[in-house]
Amino acid sequence: MMTAAPSPVMEHLDAFRRIVGEKFVFVDEEVLHQYAHDETEDLRFLPDIVLKPGTAQEISEILKICNQFKIPVTPRGGGTGLSGGALPHLGGVLLSTDRLNRIIDIDDRNLQVTTEPGVITEVLQNAVKEKGLFYPPDPSSRGTCFIGGNIAENSGGPKAVKYGVVKDYVLNLEVVLPTGEIIWTGANVLKNATGYNLTQLLVGSEGTLGIVTKAVLKLLPLPKLDLLMLVPFKNPVDACAAVSAIFAAGFVPSAMEFMERDAIEWSMRYVDNCIVPLDEDTQAHLLIEVDGNDMDVLMKEMEGISEVVMRYDCGEILFAEDAQQKAELWKLRRRVAEAVKSHSVYKEEDTVVPRAELPVLLKGVKEIGKKYGFHSVCYGHAGDGNLHVNIIRGDLTDEQWTGSLKNGIVEIFHLVKSLGGTISGEHGIGLVQKEYLPIVFEPVQMRLMQQIKSIFDPNNILNAGKIFD
Ligand code: LAC
Ligand code: ZN
Repeated sequence: MMTAAPSPVMEHLDAFRRIVGEKFVFVDEEVLHQYAHDETEDLRFLPDIVLKPGTAQEISEILKICNQFKIPVTPRGGGTGLSGGALPHLGGVLLSTDRLNRIIDIDDRNLQVTTEPGVITEVLQNAVKEKGLFYPPDPSSRGTCFIGGNIAENSGGPKAVKYGVVKDYVLNLEVVLPTGEIIWTGANVLKNATGYNLTQLLVGSEGTLGIVTKAVLKLLPLPKLDLLMLVPFKNPVDACAAVSAIFAAGFVPSAMEFMERDAIEWSMRYVDNCIVPLDEDTQAHLLIEVDGNDMDVLMKEMEGISEVVMRYDCGEILFAEDAQQKAELWKLRRRVAEAVKSHSVYKEEDTVVPRAELPVLLKGVKEIGKKYGFHSVCYGHAGDGNLHVNIIRGDLTDEQWTGSLKNGIVEIFHLVKSLGGTISGEHGIGLVQKEYLPIVFEPVQMRLMQQIKSIFDPNNILNAGKIFD
């Protein structure tokens, strides 16, 4: 009698059970399905097995087996990614960092935290906040995403405009290499001129070079005060133009978010009890925050910023009155992605251009949309020139959605490149953007990246087929 050939993974089931313990090895369909998707579009790929190791040593032993027998391994944090980085598209081992969820040490003498990768970003933020400290990177998914995933993707979020992105906070990493070797990449210091910067090479490498098992992160003193305002505009392009004018006038807000009308309207429908006035002729908003420790200074900054936005034909500005209203406005902004997802199948592009080119980018995206017949909802971190372009499936046919739409996306990316920008600001390349990478890189940069990959991962087992083939 013929039986199906066992998956090469299953031949090592006993070994995996010995390494991580029987109860942290999962092969039942229900669990496999839970790990078949992240937040990227509607894509699903079943892994053969899910492993939940508890230590770097266990990860090392798993990777040694996978390296020897060339078994694909997909590392996964909170599963909130938007470029398919955690999708196990080759089957094999799905390696979850769920159990590596300890904050090891908050060092308030040096303003550093040492953490495992499976800590939820917001949990880490709150833990350091209790000590008067601040970890600024705060992606919208901060309530469920993991620090490890944030490091893998070099995440940003609203505060990046003043405080920078994850890379600006990562000082040192413990990493398990695909060969099973365990290394520290650097030192726990604020400056380091000691050889190649392996720490920063790992940041944003999308789980293709190693699995982070500990991170030493820089912290700041927590700013005590903030003010928030919501500015409506009739013309979204004017809103974008106001952004660089605010910086030119000498202000650096702690957040500067752009939302087209659909973004805020859909989010209001999605989030109960969150209502902001939305005049008929309002087509976009800027959500602007300033922070610091001196209320007089913040008030002056808000006044100054108000004067700038008024030059761009804005409507009546809403100044958040109290902590509750601030929280509501932030909730509306943070949940735009979910609101769009619940509205329609969509593709999310993560364009980024030098800030002053934002109006040209927005205009171009809309013109390209008209040409290819798609509707887009744009929002994002305007202060960083980072515009999330959500292309709505709407009534597009299968042929359009999987065919001609691609040409539209290619045109958007060529525009981005011509403006001095690039195709991802914070969501990464992963699986869904890799076909577009040659738009921004020549063969020589692609070759360098592929060579780096093969030095770290000679057998191409770790998140293979992500970023590039
Ligand atoms: C945001 C995520 C989608 O900005 O990046 O909400
Ligand atoms: Zn974003």
